[in-house]
Amino acid sequence: MSEQTVYRLPSKGAGYQKLEQKTEPVPKIQAHEVLLKVHATTLNYRDIVIANGGYPFPVKDDVVPLSDGAGTIEQVGDAVKWLAKGDRVIANFDLSNLYGPQQDWLNGLGGPIDGMLRQYIAVPARSLVKIPETTTLNWAQLAGLVCTGTTAWNALYGNNPLKPGQTVLFQGTGGVSMTGLMLAKAAGAITIITSSSDEKLKMAKEQYGADHLINYKTNPNWAAEANKITEGRGVDIIFENGGSGTIEQSVECVARGGIIAVIGFLSPAKEMPDVASLVLGKGCIVRGINVGAKQLTDDLVAFVCGKNLQMPVEKIFKFTKEDILEAYKYLESGSHVGKVAIQIA
Ligand SMILES: NC(=O)c1ccc[n+]([C@@H]2O[C@H](COP(=O)([O-])OP(=O)(O)OC[C@H]3O[C@@H](n4cnc5c(N)ncnc54)[C@H](OP(=O)(O)O)[C@@H]3O)[C@@H](O)[C@H]2O)c1
Repeated sequence: MSEQTVYRLPSKGAGYQKLEQKTEPVPKIQAHEVLLKVHATTLNYRDIVIANGGYPFPVKDDVVPLSDGAGTIEQVGDAVKWLAKGDRVIANFDLSNLYGPQQDWLNGLGGPIDGMLRQYIAVPARSLVKIPETTTLNWAQLAGLVCTGTTAWNALYGNNPLKPGQTVLFQGTGGVSMTGLMLAKAAGAITIITSSSDEKLKMAKEQYGADHLINYKTNPNWAAEANKITEGRGVDIIFENGGSGTIEQSVECVARGGIIAVIGFLSPAKEMPDVASLVLGKGCIVRGINVGAKQLTDDLVAFVCGKNLQMPVEKIFKFTKEDILEAYKYLESGSHVGKVAIQIA
């Protein structure tokens, strides 16, 4: 194998319809790298905004999009002794962030540096997490652990760690929410999920075991509902996916001393509420999440693979241009529950 298929986006904001299919050499590896054969990748809301131009951080021209890759090691650099050909691995979202806070937005796969929408990639061995042999998760489920999984884990454990019996609220039924729901349920939390769709809420309950459901369209004051569910105590951890447009409601229903994990920006505010005063009144923590260090991904993989949690992948597309564009379109439509994937190998 000397050549591979790679997809590139000409520039940030070019639109995913402009993705170009290329044939390129399979990369040569350095002593501290491995050659990864990518078996599957998953899409994130980030990939839509990178393609459409709304991503607030740097994106290189001609980027290979998508941050999430799960695969097997094809070749190992001379200085890499702890990995071997054939090992199953995932690469961390930010290749430079091994522990602690992410230092900048310049090392995330599929944005400032080339990502996973390709057959082969050379990656530093230190950024890889090995998948235990007993794990039965499929490639798409493993790929979904990279950005979404680590983000959800960071929201639950990156600061004051979640305790069994605490309540966690997830906004919407997208990838981050459904993944967080599965992790929190498995850790003994009580879960509340919101959605614009009763059908999706039903699925969240029946397939993923959500304890409490709130439709935020028919019930715009969903915070009051969450307060009722928690008998006025409030929610211990909130997955703030809406951002400035939903944070006022989040502060209204967060428990005293609870955490609002600011993850997304799906619902920008027309008029920004006075968050400082609201937070001061509630004595809560508002914490920005930047995906997460490899150290968090290590812990996530140990938990998910140890318990063999079958992570929420809803649909898997093929590695053809037509299918890839369909996958972007499907995610953009918001009709999914959980993750949308592309099978590469
Ligand atoms: N900070 C980080 O490190 C980080 C990492 C990963 C993702 N993110 C961000 O987190 C957000 C979610 O990402 P994702 O990949 O899970 O997206 P996704 O899979 O595309 O999920 C989008 C879903 O969010 C729900 N939603 C939209 N507007 C909402 C609102 N006003 N209130 C509640 N729910 C709403 C909708 O669910 P329903 O149809 O059920 O209503 C929608 O289907 C995005 O903004 C993404 O950029 C940030």
